[in-house]
Amino acid sequence: MDVHPPDPTESHRRTSDSSSKSTERAIILVMIGLVLLYALWTLQATGPPHTPSATDRPTQAVVLSPEMVPLTTGDEPIVDIFTRAGCPVCHTIPGIPGANGRIGPALALGTTGTQRLSDPTYDGKATTVHDYIVESVLEPERFVVPGYSSRTMPIWYGSKLSALALEKIAAYLEKQTDEDLAR
Ligand code: HEC
Repeated sequence: MDVHPPDPTESHRRTSDSSSKSTERAIILVMIGLVLLYALWTLQATGPPHTPSATDRPTQAVVLSPEMVPLTTGDEPIVDIFTRAGCPVCHTIPGIPGANGRIGPALALGTTGTQRLSDPTYDGKATTVHDYIVESVLEPERFVVPGYSSRTMPIWYGSKLSALALEKIAAYLEKQTDEDLAR
């Protein structure tokens, strides 16, 4: 059988050959790397300046204009008062069918009301949970619940809800607790 061992000179030629090939390959790799780096850099420079965080809520998705909300006298059933005013769009409200909005806090003021009043950043006028609710509906910007967006809750409810409707809303919400939410 005549299998020749590989010719040493031949093998030497191959090595030098492949070493020049691998230099070439290294250069190409470096160039690809540079192009990728550049692409990454431009992506970062032009990408969205704002990286969404867990506390972000889809506030822009909900637009409720005054024309969409009828006047409420307060003689309506409590469900209608909330529904006509559009509160369920943004709030989860215990006992109100379909009220599972998540733009604003769940309205279980029987649990959260006292927390708001004792919040060191609370600078409203209310001293009772009832008044805090009325104030929150009439002047949402006075105290923005931490973790939620300001300028999201409509500021014109004072012109849509009668004093009676506001009273009924406050009387209802101050009784709702976390346990009612879990039901
Ligand atoms: C377009 C969305 C939106 C609508 C509609 C809306 N709210 Fe709100 N509401 C919010 C957001 C957001 C907050 C939290 C930020 C703040 O305090 O303003 C809030 C806060 C509140 C608070 C304070 C809650 C707390 O935990 O301290 C009350 C009470 C409240 N809303 C009641 C209502 C009632 C009643 C209605 C209907 C008459 C209503 N909201 C309609 C978005 C909305």
